[in-house]
Amino acid sequence: MKTEILKLLKENDGYISGQELCERFGVSRTAIWKVIQNLEEEGYKIEAVRNKGYHFIDSCDIMTKTEIESCIRGKLGRVVEYHDAIDSTNIRAKRLAEDGALSGTLVVSDCQKAGRGRRGREWVSPSGTNVFMSLILRPDILPGSASMLTLVAALAVHEGILRETGLETSIKWPNDIVAGGKKLCGILTEMSAELEGIHYVVVGIGINVNMEGFPEEVSSVATSLYLELGEKVRRSSLIASILEAFEGFYEEFISQGDLSGLISVYNSCMINAGREVRILDHAGDYTGKAIGINEKGELLVEMQSGEVKHVISGEVSV
Ligand code: BTN
Repeated sequence: MKTEILKLLKENDGYISGQELCERFGVSRTAIWKVIQNLEEEGYKIEAVRNKGYHFIDSCDIMTKTEIESCIRGKLGRVVEYHDAIDSTNIRAKRLAEDGALSGTLVVSDCQKAGRGRRGREWVSPSGTNVFMSLILRPDILPGSASMLTLVAALAVHEGILRETGLETSIKWPNDIVAGGKKLCGILTEMSAELEGIHYVVVGIGINVNMEGFPEEVSSVATSLYLELGEKVRRSSLIASILEAFEGFYEEFISQGDLSGLISVYNSCMINAGREVRILDHAGDYTGKAIGINEKGELLVEMQSGEVKHVISGEVSV
């Protein structure tokens, strides 16, 4: 009932009377008043005017299960598990997936005690400022195609940020989101599969949202939406915009079975496109010109000899 009342208040520009809410939910005025009190305690600004009813003013940057659910518009994120603190949302999402959680289930935490990045790195996850979320998916694709989901996720974050804030970010292949040349978001995709099929995929997304600064050792390579925009961003609403964008790109990916329908949109967001890049390969580093991705999400790099290499994985420095 709390999420539904919140949604109604947000959707309504004017006032909703207490009587109307009582009738809609079949509860007493006191029960409605208690929900409103509870929302105010969580930080919502709701005006209550005698003979008119309740009017929603502002939700600021509230991160709760109710707030996230009230922002969700599509199929992804209909089930949200929210934590104030957790070891890692990816670890939790994998556990939920093992226990049968539905595709589209979302785990969000305000902070992580053991946030994990790619290549076994740590993902610093302080409270009150950033987005740490993991989406459980059960795509009917071959395990070899799962790595493409990470590019789908990068597109979704790029598009979600654009819709929510108007900020035009770039994707650094395969899945870092950058702004002003600095990293804004990282994505860690993990899966459980056997040869014939995927049990589940967990797409973990970490976004620096309202961080006001970074330690000196990373300030030359890391940024936040706040630092780029000069204003704070509502994290719950950003999460919903990213999930909504994800749904569109995901449906296109699943219908094609590869990234062929998304190549041009991906390449248009890619910071490396047309640029000289250095591929940090375990067999030896090399440089070439990044042309774009192909339908498998491989980075096409043209060598000086004219040969085009297909980069499957590896670090790319711009
Ligand atoms: C990277 O190294 O670029 C990937 C970072 C991914 C971090 C996110 S935060 C939410 C999810 N939970 C984790 O422990 N990691 C991912």
